[in-house]
Amino acid sequence: MTGENNLLEVKDLKVAFNMRQGDVTAVNGVSFQLQRGKVLGVVGESGSGKSVSARTLLRIEAPGKITSGEINFCSPRHGEVALQKMNTTGELIRSIRWKEIAMIFQEPMTSFGPMHTFGNQITEVLILHDKLNKADALQKAIESLRSVGMPRPEKVITQYPHQISGGQRQRAMIAMALACNPEILIADEPTTALDVSTEAQILEVLAERQRTLNTSILYISHNLGVVANIADEVMVMYLGKVVEHAPVSELFSSPKHPYTIALLNSIPKIDKVYNGQRLEVLTGCIPDPYNHPAGCKFHPRCPKAMKGICEQTEPIQQAISDNRSVACHLYTSSINTNR
Ligand SMILES: Nc1ncnc2c1ncn2[C@@H]1O[C@H](COP(=O)(O)OP(=O)(O)OP(=O)(O)O)[C@@H](O)[C@H]1O
Ligand code: SF4
Ligand SMILES: [Mg+2]
Repeated sequence: MTGENNLLEVKDLKVAFNMRQGDVTAVNGVSFQLQRGKVLGVVGESGSGKSVSARTLLRIEAPGKITSGEINFCSPRHGEVALQKMNTTGELIRSIRWKEIAMIFQEPMTSFGPMHTFGNQITEVLILHDKLNKADALQKAIESLRSVGMPRPEKVITQYPHQISGGQRQRAMIAMALACNPEILIADEPTTALDVSTEAQILEVLAERQRTLNTSILYISHNLGVVANIADEVMVMYLGKVVEHAPVSELFSSPKHPYTIALLNSIPKIDKVYNGQRLEVLTGCIPDPYNHPAGCKFHPRCPKAMKGICEQTEPIQQAISDNRSVACHLYTSSINTNR
């Protein structure tokens, strides 16, 4: 794996779903690296492939299938492993899930088994991976719940998923993901069901993990403000592709891709006087996943689309500096006319 600080390297990953209506390539050539102790933010509209990319890292992409690409993980216990080659139910991947790579799922209700208490589900992970006895595992599960601000964790541990609120379930999910101190934490919209003060508390818990345990975090969110606060780098996805990747401060101060610019323009700015002026909105709809447009997938919605180029040729992701890349013909040197 290139770069000694890289914990995970994804190269040209493609994941498709074969459906009766046709094939959906949910992840279409995604490449990125996750460095030790860093937070990579992932943003993009609904359906852009954020969750499928994340689930594929844990090899729980079914019914989707990896059609090409590599996922190389530098496992502390197993050395460098090619996750894309793993048997998805094999011992090796099961020993990596939760212990080395854990995920806070977007829908906690469907991620917890409805027939088991939180105590059973969280302690099972601790007994399996940390080899704790039942009493110690229970104690650690309670501490983990307390660390994410769960009220009355001793009671919650005896309850079933339907017995607590959506926000509490989400916190239980976060507690379970953090319980084994994973190397990589994938957080898929971890705070959407939470009020702002609980959200702030959870973000602080994650930031502290990063600082004290050097945990690497893949942080997926629609909330660009949260991403601006927590991430070191940001990857912007559109229809299964990465359209821009940059350090967080550069992405927010000088976005390059027209889609990134539109996303940023659609959020209110605290220092801007609006005087009744409306926020800019992203025009047009996300294209049908079964029928992607030819050329640049963003061209039907792009205010800078160049006729004769953008609807015909798909731009590839190219480096525009040492640590930035963008997939747009405005930055393709042979085409570039009006950046
Ligand atoms: N189980 C599935 N079967 C068929 N298609 C799926 C399945 N899961 C995801 N997809 C498709 O894959 C594409 C990407 O979905 P994904 O869930 O990764 O989007 P997302 O970026 O996480 O969106 P959101 O912001 O709404 O969570 C979508 O077109 C979606 O319809
Ligand atoms: S390639 Fe063309 S259509 Fe696509 S984002 Fe760039 S300018 Fe817009
Ligand atoms: Mg999602």
